[in-house]
Amino acid sequence: MSLYQIMYISSAQGSVTADQCAAIARAAAVRNRLADVTGLLLFNSKRFIQVLEGPRAAVESVYERIRQDDRHRGVVKLREAAIDSREFGDWGMAYDDPAQPSANLKDKVAVLLDRAGASTRAHFMGSAEMHRG
Ligand SMILES: Cc1cc2nc3c(=O)[nH]c(=O)nc-3n(C[C@H](O)[C@H](O)[C@H](O)COP(=O)(O)O)c2cc1C
Repeated sequence: MSLYQIMYISSAQGSVTADQCAAIARAAAVRNRLADVTGLLLFNSKRFIQVLEGPRAAVESVYERIRQDDRHRGVVKLREAAIDSREFGDWGMAYDDPAQPSANLKDKVAVLLDRAGASTRAHFMGSAEMHRG
């Protein structure tokens, strides 16, 4: 099976609450399932990191739609690659707080942040610290 993965980072436009982000992920999960796309969305109240996995055309078309969403800006693709199997599970779209990952997502969140690279990770987690403080 030919699968593709895209990971990006972006900044929330204005104030997006955790509840709003959970709602985005819920709606996304329904749509993504229909397209055989799965993924994980992290939100630290300021930035998003999302990974999308599935058939290449489906992943690219979801990514293009997301890119144009005015609830965020500065969308930067961090990684894209052909993959042999889904790395982040089979959720239509799981949502989590990177600073306090839930027990069941903890490993996947760690993998995602590791893949995102050290500087992105520091930036992403650093702003989470500031926000919490
Ligand atoms: C951070 C973020 C992540 C999103 N992730 C997804 C996603 O994984 N799948 C999806 O269908 N829509 C996602 N959306 C919503 C899309 O941008 C878009 O609003 C939705 O797909 C409806 O598109 P339409 O209004 O063109 O039909 C996301 C939005 C944001 C802001």
